[in-house]
Amino acid sequence: HTRIFRDVAPLREFRKDLLLNKRTVGLVPTMGALHEGHISLVRYAAAENTDVFVTIYVNPTQFGLNEDLASYPKTWEADLQVLQALDQELASAGAGRVSAVFAPTTKTMYPTLPPDSSIPGVGSFIEMRPLGQLLEGASRPVFFRGVATVCMKLFNICAPDRVYFGQKDVQQTVVIRRLVKDFHLNMDVRIGATAREPDGLALSSRNVYLGTRRRNVGIVLNQSLRYAEAQYTAGKRKRGDILWQANDHANKILLEQEELDPSKRARFEVDYISLADPETMEEIDEVDDTRGAIVSGAIKM
Ligand code: PAJ
Repeated sequence: HTRIFRDVAPLREFRKDLLLNKRTVGLVPTMGALHEGHISLVRYAAAENTDVFVTIYVNPTQFGLNEDLASYPKTWEADLQVLQALDQELASAGAGRVSAVFAPTTKTMYPTLPPDSSIPGVGSFIEMRPLGQLLEGASRPVFFRGVATVCMKLFNICAPDRVYFGQKDVQQTVVIRRLVKDFHLNMDVRIGATAREPDGLALSSRNVYLGTRRRNVGIVLNQSLRYAEAQYTAGKRKRGDILWQANDHANKILLEQEELDPSKRARFEVDYISLADPETMEEIDEVDDTRGAIVSGAIKM
């Protein structure tokens, strides 16, 4: 049985009862339009907790002015059905239950923010500098401020024992780890593997925006990252040695597309292919195996 909550107070009551019964809560924050990537996180959480809370909230403060807040896919009925079916399946398997779905309004999440929340400098926000301004944050300056702020709110409301995030959004996982560390949040951060289409494209709620041509070229990012991974696995540790083939591959596909007839091509821009420190996301020249490193990339279509 999955309960749906729209307000903070009843959810808190529910959470308190679980605590009194010594149950544990795993939290999976989402913006809805659920796919197998989200579901894999719910399964991960259900394997480690007696209860899973899934939040569905399209957080306006993490969208820039020219981004897709208004058109972000919404599939509320289907999302609920998927979660309820999963709850039944988990119940018969003896795993944790999807016991709560929290789907608040913006008035609930941002009680004092003026309705025109785009006024710069107004409101309560969490910022991480320079972490939040690097890579994804360079092209989306308010994104990580919005993510850190809404996640802090969700963590405070749900009081989870563990929180679950996907590696697909790797810089977001770094931001969440930093949030938990810097604000002494009493919860463990768990990172789930990226769920992909058979050809390697990462599942994303936004993949519905891709037409056939862009969908087909979309795998260039995964291919490039795999080249970098292969170089590392082959023993390379220097930046140039790890990244050259990834960059080379992306540029090759880019040129291939630009030579096609305009009616057939999918044009794109390589925003970045990065080799970064796993805690700061600052670019590094060489991988120190005791620290590890994050290879990530963004391609704009
Ligand atoms: P959303 O894009 O809905 O993603 C919710 C969670 O699912 C994130 O932790 C994301 O990394 C994970 N996820 C998405 N696609 C995945 C995939 N293919 N494989 C594995 N995990 C995947 O990320 C957000 O929402 C928001 O920024 C949020 C954290 C909810 C704050 O508003």
